[in-house]
Amino acid sequence: MFDSSSNAEPLATPALAGAEEREHAAALSALREPMIVFSHVSISFDGRPVLEDVSFSVNHGQTLCILGRSGVGKSVALRILMGFLKPDEGSVHVEGQEITTLGEEGMRAIRKRVTMVFQNGALFDSLSVRENVAFPLRERGGLDEEQIQQEVDRLIGLVGAEDTVEALPASLSTGRKRAVAIARALAARPEVVLYDEPTTMVDPIIARRLGDLIQRLKRQLGFTSIVVTHDMRVAERLADQVLFLHQGRAQFFGPLEGFVGSSDPHIQQFLNLDAYLLPSE
Ligand SMILES: Nc1ncnc2c1ncn2[C@@H]1O[C@H](COP(=O)(O)OP(=O)(O)O)[C@@H](O)[C@H]1O
Ligand SMILES: [Mg+2]
Repeated sequence: MFDSSSNAEPLATPALAGAEEREHAAALSALREPMIVFSHVSISFDGRPVLEDVSFSVNHGQTLCILGRSGVGKSVALRILMGFLKPDEGSVHVEGQEITTLGEEGMRAIRKRVTMVFQNGALFDSLSVRENVAFPLRERGGLDEEQIQQEVDRLIGLVGAEDTVEALPASLSTGRKRAVAIARALAARPEVVLYDEPTTMVDPIIARRLGDLIQRLKRQLGFTSIVVTHDMRVAERLADQVLFLHQGRAQFFGPLEGFVGSSDPHIQQFLNLDAYLLPSE
């Protein structure tokens, strides 16, 4: 099932696709095996179920938004996908490969393909922005110093953080840290990018910019992404598919339009009470 041949040069693939090409790409993607599949995943902590029988999938180049109230298991789902947590039941596939049975070495290979942008950025405090972004490039090897610096400049330009390149992370705003964390994640040349609450705790303008950035990376570079958020405005801009978690269960999994138009009382309550609570733009 594992096809490593399709793992080549993800950053070099669809360049600046037009609308027609994007439609074509979406149609092709639907024919391929999904990039990510959760099947009947359950996990409990100290006997308390957090995820129960949760199933969903994400196709190549698509964005799934995981929505739900605080504490419902959104971050847990991402940590299962990164192999930091093992589910009690169910399976998780990355392009056809079962990952829940992999050891640390197997997971390291998966983490080259699936990378996470942590909420706090998880940058190295003692390294400049330039060295933070260079880090995965140096780890990957194969580039000389000049190529590393060129790639760093390209990635930092991509996220619009050119003015911070020599700064230390501590001197950056939360929004800037997140942009730099995204640049560093991209340096590892992943195929799937996971974002945990990318717009939480930044002002609405920065939230909008980060949303734009995530959208641009998807459109220009064809990344598959999962965005955990409780901000409906982010979901409305980014989501192809929505997974709504409620009391441990996948209460909804499907296209954004279906979610917004759902008459399910839990979804209605979420949309009416929680989803737009952040200050409006
Ligand atoms: N490693 C862990 N050990 C014990 N409980 C955990 C662990 N990780 C998460 N939990 C619990 O699982 C629940 C879901 O957490 P989380 O996925 O972080 O929620 P959120 O949807 O806000 O991201 C919370 O009640 C949290 O306390
Ligand atoms: Mg969380």
